[in-house]
Amino acid sequence: MKIQIVRPDESELDELRTHLDYTISETFKIEGVYESHYDEYIEEVEYQLKQIKKDLASNGSDEYFLIAKSDGKIVGTIGYGAPNSVIKKYHTDELGEIKAVYVNPLYQGKRIGSTLFESMILYLKSRHITHFVLDCGYSKSQSFWIKILGEPYLFMKDFYAEDSHHMIWESSVDNLL
Ligand SMILES: CC(C)(COP(=O)(O)OP(=O)(O)OC[C@H]1O[C@@H](n2cnc3c(N)ncnc32)[C@H](O)[C@@H]1OP(=O)(O)O)[C@@H](O)C(=O)NCCC(=O)NCCS
Repeated sequence: MKIQIVRPDESELDELRTHLDYTISETFKIEGVYESHYDEYIEEVEYQLKQIKKDLASNGSDEYFLIAKSDGKIVGTIGYGAPNSVIKKYHTDELGEIKAVYVNPLYQGKRIGSTLFESMILYLKSRHITHFVLDCGYSKSQSFWIKILGEPYLFMKDFYAEDSHHMIWESSVDNLL
């Protein structure tokens, strides 16, 4: 399968909404929190779309997104920009955040997530950005980040509920590729 990593375009906002809505709702279902945290799922879709619109409005200088396409269809996203409220509250607002790493469930396990991440690291290096933060509250994906970034800088035990943790990583871009 051929994957293209490209910048988003204004004309793709509807497709990006469909992608985020499907991927985030499925992720919440897999986590078993779709019904109990329905408002948070809607909030996350709207939040990430807002970040993409900031990217489009600033031509990538406020927020910066990359999208993965397979046969012209959007199958993954990744962003970099201002940290979210949890990172700002519990860690730092001085570093940019890698965010919105969402691969369509039908396309997961095909190296799309790691390719998007590597492309973003190349972009950060090209901008001489040396460090970033990333957080993850999805239990099924935390091991993906531990594999790439090592143990989190902050392990927030029982953050959401018993046995439902939140993790924040701070990482240098060096040695990631
Ligand atoms: C987590 C996610 C981004 C991974 O993307 P992906 O395209 O499915 O993963 P890749 O195919 O690039 O996987 C790369 C490697 O990580 C491993 N991996 C993938 N998902 C993993 C997981 N959940 N836990 C542990 N390892 C995982 C793969 O086996 C592969 O290993 P290999 O290099 O030894 O072959 C994707 O599954 C996803 O979007 N999940 C739902 C949304 C989400 O949780 N996003 C993260 C927000 S913080």
